Amino acid sequence: MALHDRWVQERKHEHYYKLAKKLNYRSRASFKLMQLDNRFSIFREGDSVVDLGASPGGWLQVAKERTGESGKVIGVDLRPIRPMEGTVTIIGDITDDNTMAELLEKFGGKADVVLSDMAPNIAGHYSTDHARSIELCMFAVDVCDRVLKRNGICVMKVFMGDMMGILTKELERRFRSVRVTSPDASRDTSSEVYVVAKGFLASSNIKPAAVKTREKKPEFTVKGNI
Ligand SMILES: C[S@@+](CC[C@H](N)C(=O)[O-])C[C@H]1O[C@@H](n2cnc3c(N)ncnc32)[C@H](O)[C@@H]1O
Repeated sequence: MALHDRWVQERKHEHYYKLAKKLNYRSRASFKLMQLDNRFSIFREGDSVVDLGASPGGWLQVAKERTGESGKVIGVDLRPIRPMEGTVTIIGDITDDNTMAELLEKFGGKADVVLSDMAPNIAGHYSTDHARSIELCMFAVDVCDRVLKRNGICVMKVFMGDMMGILTKELERRFRSVRVTSPDASRDTSSEVYVVAKGFLASSNIKPAAVKTREKKPEFTVKGNI
């Protein structure tokens, strides 16, 4: 990265970090979700929201604020999430069947919005990080298949790379519109983008896959280094 770009990145990082502290948000990431919501109208009062990769809780705060008193918000993460009024949290790995079962049980209904800000542990190897990010996104797609209402919305983070097309194809089979975007608060990491998918189709309308997919799990697992 050029020196000037790094300088811009550090200033932006610091700006949103300070703003989060000042406004009592748990992470800088809150501003990414606010900017996405301002642009794509993700939340409505009273919505039910599933937030994957929710710790420390910056997105949970925004989801709760924007869905209001009657909003139902549940967060899942490998790491603990400090309790937050009006939200439910689960500590667990969403790729694990037990966590998925706990989510379905505690949520107990259908969601208007599925969010995923999940990120793999960074290996520092571009294609490995990309493949692991895609794998997490495929699990988020699986969550959509299980809990999202017809016409529901999904927002997910992904590290860009050559498998991006596999993810967008899976989303295009399921949603009426799929947009890839980068909110101002996230433009400091060149590979990080957000996919906003709207208009979830009823399961009977999901277009068939071009390749055969397994029934329950995402088609794709990444083992070790690539
Ligand atoms: C960028 S952080 C999320 C920040 C959060 N959206 C916020 O606003 O505070 C990414 C999170 O994804 C979580 N994560 C990664 N893999 C996961 C998995 N398999 N299941 C659940 N959470 C996962 C990590 O533990 C990490 O806390």
